[in-house]
Amino acid sequence: MSELKNDRFLRALMREPVDVTPVWMMRQAGRYLPEYRASRERAGNFMGLCANPDMACEVTLQPLERYPLDAAILFSDILTIPDAMGLGLYFETGEGPKFRKPVRTEADIQALKVMDPYKDLGYVMDAVKTIRRELNGRVPLIGFSGSPWTLATYMVEGSSSKDFRRAKTMAYDQPEVMHQLLDTLAQSVTAYLNAQIESGAQAVQIFDTWGGALSHAAYQEFSLKYLQQIVSGLIRQHDGRRVPVILFTKGGGQWLEQMADTGADALGLDWTTDIGQARSRVGQRVALQGNMDPTILYASPERIRAEVGQILESYGRGSGHVFNLGHGITPEVDPAHAGAFIEAVHELSAVYHGE
Ligand code: CP3
Repeated sequence: MSELKNDRFLRALMREPVDVTPVWMMRQAGRYLPEYRASRERAGNFMGLCANPDMACEVTLQPLERYPLDAAILFSDILTIPDAMGLGLYFETGEGPKFRKPVRTEADIQALKVMDPYKDLGYVMDAVKTIRRELNGRVPLIGFSGSPWTLATYMVEGSSSKDFRRAKTMAYDQPEVMHQLLDTLAQSVTAYLNAQIESGAQAVQIFDTWGGALSHAAYQEFSLKYLQQIVSGLIRQHDGRRVPVILFTKGGGQWLEQMADTGADALGLDWTTDIGQARSRVGQRVALQGNMDPTILYASPERIRAEVGQILESYGRGSGHVFNLGHGITPEVDPAHAGAFIEAVHELSAVYHGE
């Protein structure tokens, strides 16, 4: 494998010294970029992009051609796992993801099998290998998966949901059934992330997008427990380097200590948590990733720069910070504003590093 030309993302995740704070954006390959929309048009639809390794590679690299980003993220989706388990994923324009065969009963869940990533999601592993080859050491490649709880919400609801009525009812009324689903998913996610690592992913992030919808007690029981199980089962060293694990529970600011206890290398923060306070709580143990409100990208470049400055100031001097948004970039953002954001991170952060 080729030497990394820019490894500040991996160094910051290990809290090793860097010259400037590294930055990437969740959903950095996406609909705000006209070149992404053109590629999706050519592929026919979103899943067509994901399932074709050359096209997945093409869109992964698009934001890197525009901006001096410090990491690439595999272009795929968290819902490839339930799709591979036979639930029949499809997207209806403007409505988000849907499943033809959601899981609603104990029998549905007993029929699910732990997924074999090489057999069932070979196209993802091919995409990882293709992207690594085309990146040629420019920046590290991030692999990812959804958390068991977040995947379970889509699998039980059959779509996105506002209140998670079906998934929560199953958790509260039939906890043993929900636990069986979560355990099958945790085993599948572990195998899937390890396969991505063996195929060339140099860091992995687990998206627990809906963990923050749970009560304090339910979060421990239905989300954190399985994050812990996955972290314990991951390959942590590959190709002569540590493979850092990032846990991102959206709305999880009150659980950072417990998330750090899983043994993850870094925690993702949404914008509702002050990053300086988060650092004083867990910054001796983990790196932090985040956490600008993605909506600030609609404001002027001057306002974006000021916000970046405040977050850098709140984190303070030294390594252990990967700059990101607190959630994915949205489709209506002006690409020039994303550029102003990335430039501000590199320009304003140098004074927080070095002698
Ligand atoms: O970050 C990246 O650039 C990598 C690619 C990526 C996508 N989805 C591409 C995508 C990643 C990391 C994801 C993760 C994902 N997918 C999550 C967790 C992160 C988060 O945002 O909370 C979730 C919950 C999903 C499920 C999902 N996929 C939803 C709810 C939607 C529709 C949302 C919307 O904005 O319409 C998707 C579709 C999707 N995944 C798109 C992209 C670029 C848009 C599809 C399109 O091109 O029409």
